Amino acid sequence: MIKAQRGTKDIYGDESVVWQWIFENAKTVFQNANFTEIKTPIFEATELFNRGVGDSTDIVNKEMYTFSVGGADKNATSITLRPENTAGVVRSYIEHNFNRQSPPQKFWYFGPMFRYERPQAGRQRQFHQAGVELFGIKDATADAEVIITAINFLKSLGLNDLEIELNTLGCPKCKNDYRNSIKAILAPYLEDLCDDCKMRYEKNPLRILDCKNENCKKIFETEEIKEVILKDYICDECKEHFEELKNYLNELNIKYSINKMLVRGLDYYNRTVFEIKSEALGSQSAVCGGGRYDGLVEMLGGAPTPAVGFAMGVERLYTLINKPTPQKIDFYVVSTNIKEAMKLTQELRQNNKSAEFDMQKRKFSKQLEKASKISKYAIILGEDEIEKGYYSLKDLSTGEQKQIKSFEELINF
Ligand code: HAM
Repeated sequence: MIKAQRGTKDIYGDESVVWQWIFENAKTVFQNANFTEIKTPIFEATELFNRGVGDSTDIVNKEMYTFSVGGADKNATSITLRPENTAGVVRSYIEHNFNRQSPPQKFWYFGPMFRYERPQAGRQRQFHQAGVELFGIKDATADAEVIITAINFLKSLGLNDLEIELNTLGCPKCKNDYRNSIKAILAPYLEDLCDDCKMRYEKNPLRILDCKNENCKKIFETEEIKEVILKDYICDECKEHFEELKNYLNELNIKYSINKMLVRGLDYYNRTVFEIKSEALGSQSAVCGGGRYDGLVEMLGGAPTPAVGFAMGVERLYTLINKPTPQKIDFYVVSTNIKEAMKLTQELRQNNKSAEFDMQKRKFSKQLEKASKISKYAIILGEDEIEKGYYSLKDLSTGEQKQIKSFEELINF
């Protein structure tokens, strides 16, 4: 038997109904906040992610689904299944000159992403993200707008009390000072760091703070290193930006905590970074990650453009929400006269009612049994009903039955 690939999943039945509900909520909340939908391809030039997400990240180094297509050697093109969507949206923003429209330009998306990670609870190789990206606003109003939109989406799903963690990485200058200090203080420990951190030390030392290796984590607990981590490297302008964001969130009664170790696993961030977490998710606790990436548009060849966004993991949302009970269909037409049953079912569907009939032409009692499982009402079309032109309508939750004289009355019932 051919099975689904490790780390992928079929979504069907009741689960698919809940997924539709999550999608509808994303669409409503994002569109209410004036974000418009953007659908970008699920594969892009590999170079986009190498440069966009960053070649020191785990995503680019270990987790990309990269293929060579279109012929041998020099004609071959390297493409990659998108591991995330910020880089793709930025590519599209540049390609279509969205910067010519007056800012802000606001986009939302919902779709599959691909990372070749070790599958475990809450971590898949094909997973889905619902996210937004906002371009053209440098002010912390945009950071607040994006965080509020994330919270509104979570609230629409009944998730009211998740923990929001905030940090600021500062501008390239602050980031550089921070990076140099981390490098200096960790230099004597270099041999004790894990292999990944040895590589990060050269390419992106801030990412070392995000390491999950127990040995590395122990090193960060040393007093002198802790002191460097907790020291403030943020310049006045970046501090002011962060203060402004916190003020907006306070004003809106949004609770958050500051986590100085939060650096995020993608290279493009500057200033604000945030994650929304839930302990109920276990070790993969982040349901949402986001932040500001003011340098990315320019780095990928566009005009300098400030930007900020987030993405939520839909599978993790699914784990957290109270699942709504799936709706039953409106009508099941119960009849041994198959042609009449088919005709009535079609008419009901054309009038925007959900309806089903028995394609197996089974006995009346079997049909009624099936109807009571999947439908709110049974419409009984026996010989008498067909001859005299009326419908017997049975409420399948109460068992009550009544006669309905016309089709109009039936669909308005
Ligand atoms: P990220 O933190 O890599 O950020 O992913 C965002 C969310 O996607 C995570 O918090 C998690 O819920 C979900 N996720 C990530 N990997 C997996 C996986 N293997 N299995 C299941 N769920 C997963 C980004 O992707 C950025 N593009 C977010 C962003 C948008 N920043 C600015 N704009």
